[in-house]
Amino acid sequence: MNFKSKQVLIGFLSIVIAAIVFLVFNLTKTSNHIAKKGEVPVIIGFVQLGSESAWRSANSASVKSAAVDKGISLIFKNAEGSQKLQKQLIRDFIIQQVDVIIFPPLVADGWDEILAEAKEAGIPVIISDRRIIVKNPDSYSVFVGADFASEGRKAGKWLVNNTSHSSAVNIVELEGLAGSSPAIDRAKGFRQEIVNHPNMKIIESVPGDFIKVKGKLAMKKLLKKYGGNINVVYSHNDDMALGAIEAIKDYGLRPGKDILIVSVDGEKAALQAIKDGESNVSVECTPLLGPVLMQTARKLLNKEKLPKSIIMEEKTFTIKNVDKELPLRTY
Ligand code: AHR
Repeated sequence: MNFKSKQVLIGFLSIVIAAIVFLVFNLTKTSNHIAKKGEVPVIIGFVQLGSESAWRSANSASVKSAAVDKGISLIFKNAEGSQKLQKQLIRDFIIQQVDVIIFPPLVADGWDEILAEAKEAGIPVIISDRRIIVKNPDSYSVFVGADFASEGRKAGKWLVNNTSHSSAVNIVELEGLAGSSPAIDRAKGFRQEIVNHPNMKIIESVPGDFIKVKGKLAMKKLLKKYGGNINVVYSHNDDMALGAIEAIKDYGLRPGKDILIVSVDGEKAALQAIKDGESNVSVECTPLLGPVLMQTARKLLNKEKLPKSIIMEEKTFTIKNVDKELPLRTY
């Protein structure tokens, strides 16, 4: 073998070794847990949808720490707001033959094909956090998350109960990501409650994609257009509501007093805003899904019978209970 061929061979072998090290590292990196006696080793592939909010960061942290606690090897990937990438990462997990795939779908539609691929490969899928619309409901095993329509209804009900004396209630709505189930269902549930109250009117709905800066920008524009004629902000999540609070203060009005703030999530910062009198209500949507997800994955692999949907219990936070709840919030 001449010198040049030797160099080519060494180069090729280095690439093969690097690929093996990369694969082994990726398959083991997030688990420090040593499997207990009798525990079957489990590998879960989790594809997070993005990093748009404080809620999302808390959700990612919950999944990672629950995997360590339950002795599960977790391969965690993030699609950073791209459905195309989320599907690609799911496909990678199918090729790797993980035991269970879990993913919170960025949007509700467009998952039929990839779920059929997972089914064909015999890999059970848990849908987490956000609901999906599929032709074949058997294409995934279980849904674990919240009832977003009920959250919208709770928000609407609070508003109805607290503005019944007002002759006109002008509402602006900050919408979550278009096509995502929390945006669709929170809009629907809220309307179901206010529809029979002619004093209540949604004067404009604008997208804010669940992102704080987008909520602030949208609110700034709405204030420019409607000024003090806005009575209520209904925001599909806390982050956008917190952005709107900043915009209202910059405009010279008092959030929580001149303009009521109604939002969803129950993040620590939103609870603090309620305590400070700058927000009025936050309907809880818990991001702490990790322990239930890990438990559900194990049950699935043990072939235990499971309900199709596991819905989390959630509260509503106002000035009446915020003092009790605030010290308990971790996110
Ligand atoms: O899917 C849950 C929603 O997504 C949360 O309400 C929101 O904050 C997040 O971005």
